[in-house]
Amino acid sequence: MNEPPGIRTIRRHPLTGCDRQPAEHHGSTDSMRTTTLGTSGPETGVIGLGAMGMSFAYDMATPRDEATSVSVIHAALDLGMTLIDTADVYGPFTNEELVGRALAGRRDRAVIATKVGMEAIDPTGGPGGSPLVRPNGRPEHVRAAIDASLRRLGTDHVELYQLHRVDPGVPIEETWGALAEAVQAGKALHLGLSEVSVEQIRRAEAVHPVTTVQSEFSLWTRDVQAEVLPYCAEHGIGLLPYSPLGRGFLVGRFSSFDELPLNDQRRRLPRFQQDALRANLAIAGRVREVADRIGATPAQVALAWLVAQGPHVVPIPGTKTPAYLADNAGAAGLTLSPADLADLDAIPAPEGARY
Ligand SMILES: NC(=O)c1ccc[n+]([C@@H]2O[C@H](COP(=O)([O-])OP(=O)(O)OC[C@H]3O[C@@H](n4cnc5c(N)ncnc54)[C@H](OP(=O)(O)O)[C@@H]3O)[C@@H](O)[C@H]2O)c1
Repeated sequence: MNEPPGIRTIRRHPLTGCDRQPAEHHGSTDSMRTTTLGTSGPETGVIGLGAMGMSFAYDMATPRDEATSVSVIHAALDLGMTLIDTADVYGPFTNEELVGRALAGRRDRAVIATKVGMEAIDPTGGPGGSPLVRPNGRPEHVRAAIDASLRRLGTDHVELYQLHRVDPGVPIEETWGALAEAVQAGKALHLGLSEVSVEQIRRAEAVHPVTTVQSEFSLWTRDVQAEVLPYCAEHGIGLLPYSPLGRGFLVGRFSSFDELPLNDQRRRLPRFQQDALRANLAIAGRVREVADRIGATPAQVALAWLVAQGPHVVPIPGTKTPAYLADNAGAAGLTLSPADLADLDAIPAPEGARY
C-alpha cells in the first residue's frame, strides 16, 4: 500500500561496504527513516548530503582529495542519505562532475538534486578570489543548462531540478516554465525552488507543481518559520534546509575569525566577522550543552531539531569528511524531547546578517 506523503517509515538499508558506525554517538545509523519530497516526489532518507563544499565556497586554499569526497558520497548512500544536493555553479561545474563520477555504478541508489539559475561570470572575480556569480533565469539559459548538467552528472535525468535563485530581471513564470520543459522532456522528474517567498512559490505553482523549496534554515537562521515552512507543510512541498549546521559554526568549528580557512566564503559573511562571531559563540555553546546532556553531538542536535520541524523537512548538511558524515547520519536516530526542543527554540537570534 502506498503511504501518504510525508509519513516516515523505518526501512533497512543494505549498508553494503560501509563499516563506519559512530558507535560512540547517540543515534543509530543501521537504518535511516525515510520520507517523501512533496506529495509526489521521490522517497529519501530524512537527512541528505550537500556536496557543495567538496568543490566550492569553503577552504579553497586547501587542495581537495577527490577519493575521500567520493568515499563520503558512497558512505552517504550506504547510510541511507540518498538525497545528494549539488548545482551547476558549484565549481563552477566541477561539483556536478564529481557527483557524477561518485555515482557511476550507483546511480539508481541516489536522488540527485541539482540547480540552475546562478552563473559564474568571472572565475576569480568574487570575494577572496572565488568565482563571481549572479542569477540568470533567462529561459534559453535554463534550456541549455539541463543538458550540460546531465552530461556532467553522467545520467539522463535528475530526480530534482531546482531554481537556485529567482532572477530579478526575469518573471519567475518564464524561468519556471523553462524548468518545466525539462520535466516534459523526461530530463527532470520534479522541480524545486531555492530562497523564495510564499508569493514566489504561488506564482511558480500556477505554472508547474513545486516539489521542494530549499532555504537556509538552522538554529541560527529561522526566517522560514514565519511563512515558508507552514506554507510548504500545508501544500505538500518538501523543505530542504541548507547550511543546517550554520556552515560549521553551530557545531563549534570556529571560535575566532582567524580560525576560518583562507579563501573561504565564510570570511565575508557578517555573522563570521570577529565581533559577531564572538557574540555568537554563546549560541554554539547552547547547542553543545543540550548535546552533552543527552549524549549526542552538536551536529546531531542541530539536525534533529530541523527534522523535528515536520515530516516534510529534509536537511542537507555538507561535508567532505567521513567522520562528520557518520556523525550527521546519526541524527536520524535521535529524537529530541519536548524539553530539549524548548531549550533549542529559546536560543536567541544571532549577531549579524546571514549574507
Ligand atoms: N540553495 C542555496 O543557495 C545553498 C546555499 C548554500 C548551501 N547549499 C547546499 O547546502 C549544503 C550544506 O550547506 P553548507 O555546506 O553551506 O553548510 P553546513 O552543512 O551547515 O556546514 C558545512 C560545514 O560544516 C562542517 N561539518 C559538517 N558536518 C560536521 C560535523 N558533524 N562536525 C563538524 N563539522 C561538520 C563541514 O566541514 P567539512 O566540509 O570540512 O567536512 C563544513 O565546513 C551545501 O553542500 C549545498 O549543497 C545551498
